[in-house]
Formats: sequence, C-alpha cells, structure tokens
Amino acid sequence: MAEALRVGIAGLGTVGASVARVLRDKAAELTRQCGREIVVSAVSARDRNRDRGVDLGAARWFDDPVGMAQTADIDVFVELIGGDEGPSRSSVKAALEAGRHVVTANKALLAKHGVALAEAAEKKGVLLNYEAAVAGGIPVIKTMREAMAGNSVTRVFGILNGTCNYILTRMEAEGISFDACLKDAQRLGYAEADPTFDIEGHDTAHKLSILTSLAFGTRIAANDIYMEGISNISQADIRAAGDLGYRIKLLGVAQRTESGIEQRVHPTMVPTASVIAQVHGVTNAVAIETDILGELLLSGPGAGGNATASAVVGDIADIAKSRPGFQHGPVFGLPAKELRPYKKAQMRSHAGGYFIRLTVHDRIGVFAAIAKRMADNDISLESIVQHAAGPDTALQKTVILVTHETTEAAVRKAVDGITRDDHLTDKPQVIRIERAG
Ligand SMILES: NC(=O)c1ccc[n+]([C@@H]2O[C@H](COP(=O)([O-])OP(=O)(O)OC[C@H]3O[C@@H](n4cnc5c(N)ncnc54)[C@H](OP(=O)(O)O)[C@@H]3O)[C@@H](O)[C@H]2O)c1
Repeated sequence: MAEALRVGIAGLGTVGASVARVLRDKAAELTRQCGREIVVSAVSARDRNRDRGVDLGAARWFDDPVGMAQTADIDVFVELIGGDEGPSRSSVKAALEAGRHVVTANKALLAKHGVALAEAAEKKGVLLNYEAAVAGGIPVIKTMREAMAGNSVTRVFGILNGTCNYILTRMEAEGISFDACLKDAQRLGYAEADPTFDIEGHDTAHKLSILTSLAFGTRIAANDIYMEGISNISQADIRAAGDLGYRIKLLGVAQRTESGIEQRVHPTMVPTASVIAQVHGVTNAVAIETDILGELLLSGPGAGGNATASAVVGDIADIAKSRPGFQHGPVFGLPAKELRPYKKAQMRSHAGGYFIRLTVHDRIGVFAAIAKRMADNDISLESIVQHAAGPDTALQKTVILVTHETTEAAVRKAVDGITRDDHLTDKPQVIRIERAG
C-alpha cells in the first residue's frame, strides 16, 4: 500500500473538529477508497487545552499555523480558521509556497485572494481544493469544475446562506416578523451574534464570486457584486408575494448579459411552483443553466460541522487518490493566467420583472398618477392592485404593481417620480422577480 497521506489541520472549531472526527471514524472506509491511510499528523488552534471531542494526542501541536504550514511533516495543509487576512491567508500562502496541497472551506479568503492563491498553487503544481467554501456539503465545485466540460454556462443562481433562508422560511410559515425570526435563529445557533455578514448578503456574495469565476472563466471580483440583504423584508411583502404566486428568497445570481456579467445578491421573488422555491430552512441550493445540460439544481445542507466536514474530507480524499506526476486540473477550471478580467454589467441595465409595493395617501388621483409614472418610463404592468393598508389605516392604501420585463433604470426612475409626487406615506418597496424553472 502507498504511504499514508499526512494531514495538518489548522483550526479546530466547528468544522476542524468535525473533520478530525470524520477522519478518525471513517478511517477504514477512507483507506479502502483511497488505497492509502489518511493520518492527522499536525494540528493548530489558539487554545491547546480546549477539549475538541476527539483525541488528537498523536498529532504534533503548533501554536502558529504558519509555522505548521512551513515546517510540519505534512502533505496537505487544511485551513479551517476563517477570515480573509491574518493567519488564514498567511498560512495558506506559506503552505502553497512550501509545495504542500491545501484544502480550505474559507470563502472569504478565496473571494479576496483566490486568483493569487491559485497562481501560487499552479506554480508549485499542488492542489488548492475548496469544495466546502460554497454551499457547505453540496458538491457544486466539483460539478462545475469537472462534470460540465464543454458546457457554456448562461446563469448560475442559488440560495447560498442558510441563515437567511431559515428566516424567510419561518417568516412565511408562521407569519412572524424579521426581528423575531432573527432572534430565534441566534438562539438556535443558526445566526451569529453579529448577523450583519449573513443577513446583508456578504456571505452570499463571497460564494457567488467563486461560482461566477467557475461559470464564466473570469477573475474573481467580489467587490463588484450588487448587494441587498433581507432586513427590510416585511410580512406585507411575504403575504403579497404569496397572493401573487411567488415566494421570497435571498438569491445570489450571476448571468451573462449583452453588457457584461451581472452579479447580484438580493431578495428575489421566485414562482412558488419552481423547484428552488421548495428549498426551505437552512438548506442551500444552486441552479446552473448551460447550453448543453439545460438547468441543473443541486440542493442539500449548506453548513454545519458534519456537512462541511463531508466536503473537506472529500477534498482530502481526492489528494490521497492522486498519484505523483499526475497533472492537477486548474483551481478555478482554467489556468489562473487565462481567467479573463471581469466585465461588469451595470445594475441599471438589469432586465426583469419587478414587484413594487407602495403605501399611499387614500385620495383621488393617486392611482392614476402612479400608472402615469409607469407609462412615462415605458413600464408595462402585468397587474396593479389596490387595497386598504390595514385595519387602523383608513387614510392609507396599499398599491401593489407587478411589471412585465423592464429595466432597473426605468423602475428606479418611475419610483423616484412617484416619491417626488408626494403620494407615499412610507418607503416604497421594490423586489426583483427571477425566472426559475
Ligand atoms: N461552520 C460552518 O458551518 C461552515 C460552513 C462552511 C464553511 N465554513 C468555513 O470554515 C471555516 C471555519 O469555520 P468554523 O465555523 O469551524 O469556525 P470556528 O468554529 O470559529 O473555528 C475557528 C478555529 O480557528 C482557530 N483559530 C483562530 N485563530 C487562530 C490562529 N491565529 N491560529 C490558529 N488557530 C486559530 C480557533 O481556535 P480555538 O478553537 O482555539 O479558538 C478555532 O479552532 C471558515 O472559513 C468558515 O467560513 C464554515
């Protein structure tokens, strides 16, 4: 049998400790599948004395993950610390420079430094595997990088953040407010104490930036992503969506358009009957549309120790199965120098349907004025409905408009016009509608 693959794990938190446990519990299966043993020979974390729920006594302890990356007797450096700078970046860089394979679950690091790290891996002929960085346990990276050769991707979109999907699912199912759902999510450990990163869309954007690069062969450009979170989604939106045959999801969407590649993260209305609308709770899903395959939807657990460890262990096993002299495929599907600069489509040119909810003064002429603003901006309406804004609001009405395909620029202009007309009693709500099968 070939020599054992020696693994060093940096970071022994939720994911790192789970990876160590899976490698221990599944050692026999993994040895059979890989044709060699996988052993944890080095570990690093901040607190040496913390109980990790797994005996790591046989592994050499490193206080400093960079030192471990440089000097430990390991073949694979597994980075599970997190963060886009500091010890995660410097240790991954050091491991690649030392000619060691790297496995990471760190989307923030890849979104910011992925191309440079891919160049470093290619230079040394080593692997940089990151299946767990996007949609946790769902094997979307492998699917896009290895199983779709020859396909041209037209659009990739998905539910990439379990916290947001959990909140939106409960808001709809139980009729409770965003704030109440968020508190519950925090109590149950689905949301961080500071949830901004998740609920304002940053986490989704990091994952989307990686998918965009794989889909379109572009350099990662996370800073260019248009981003809106879910914190201003109200029960009124959820109910109106349901009445119209839609469900609200926070989607990350990347698509090729005539003016470039559009990357956007925002609350989105998808048809209730679509497959992606059936993805509930903390589950993630990624839809990939291509010219040959059509639409593929992968769904499954997007986070949590075990699900994420499954993807990390899969990446380690791939390295264990590879043989010396074998040429590894490029990190983002194309050699790093061939990843094209990214041509950004402006959000103003986004084309699609829109849901617009307006709370207006109940007075003569308002309805006609709204319709005129729409017509002035060439916006054709699929429906326009007016009803009482609520039991205690005799002086207000709610107007809900659904547009046919139009542009973001036209909708912004129309809504700005309506706001200037001084008919609104509350901030207007605009939610984009996404085509989904
Ligand atoms: N949690 C998930 O469900 C999930 C899903 C997908 C991807 N990920 C990604 O996986 C990575 C790890 O996430 P996690 O949830 O496991 O994080 P975590 O529970 O916070 O664990 C982080 C670990 O890093 C260690 N660490 C921090 N600073 C260090 C340093 N300077 N030197 C050495 N070790 C250091 C910590 O040590 P101590 O334990 O001693 O404090 C801890 O063990 C992140 O990139 C995250 O985005 C997580």
